[in-house]
Amino acid sequence: MPILSPTVLSTERLRLRWFREEDAAANFAVFSDPEVTRYWSRAPWTELEQSVQMIASTMANCADGSGLRFAIEPLAGGDIIGNVSLFHFVDDSRRCDIGYALASRHWGHGYVSEALRAVIDYGFRELALNRIEADVDPANAASRRVLEKLGFREEGYMPERWIVQGEPADTVNYGLLKRYWDARQGLSL
Ligand SMILES: CC(C)(COP(=O)(O)OP(=O)(O)OC[C@H]1O[C@@H](n2cnc3c(N)ncnc32)[C@H](O)[C@@H]1OP(=O)(O)O)[C@@H](O)C(=O)NCCC(=O)NCCS
Repeated sequence: MPILSPTVLSTERLRLRWFREEDAAANFAVFSDPEVTRYWSRAPWTELEQSVQMIASTMANCADGSGLRFAIEPLAGGDIIGNVSLFHFVDDSRRCDIGYALASRHWGHGYVSEALRAVIDYGFRELALNRIEADVDPANAASRRVLEKLGFREEGYMPERWIVQGEPADTVNYGLLKRYWDARQGLSL
């Protein structure tokens, strides 16, 4: 990806913006929660320093264009409540992966669907992506539902792709093409 300048995306209830050092405590609260990291290949965080390190690498990746991670900030105020990332850019093929996480106390209110809609649209329109991929644990029903609501299609299955906290875990591959996205505009998602 070309080197980008700081970007802010606004939705009805959210502001999506690049991370700042002062987000460390709120970001730690998200990733130290075992509910949030249940399907992750890493254990929940135990040290604030892990959040500090993630934010430092996120800021470096955003600055050099190698990856983008937006903090999710409620317009109503307060700390950040999660994040959405675009990463593993393959420039020649104009594709990347997408990831997301939300503090568990905010689940079930449509926040991640709202945030993803804005980030995906930004990816297709401003970053000229042609394809966005997601890798999901088949048991992660909420995540699969979010992707399917947004028009991602199930494309494959990879058994035991990850070891999640000591246990093999399968992957369902999802993909969203720009043309699927364009065809859905104007439909209520
Ligand atoms: C997955 C996650 C991001 C969803 O965030 P969210 O803001 O609650 O998502 P939304 O409210 O936008 O949508 C969730 C959808 O899943 C549905 N859902 C929630 N739990 C579900 C379950 N156990 N089974 C089936 N559907 C479920 C909701 O009903 C909703 O669908 P609806 O709008 O049709 O009612 C959140 O649960 C999370 O952060 N999980 C931990 C991190 C993670 O797994 N990230 C994804 C890695 S691939």
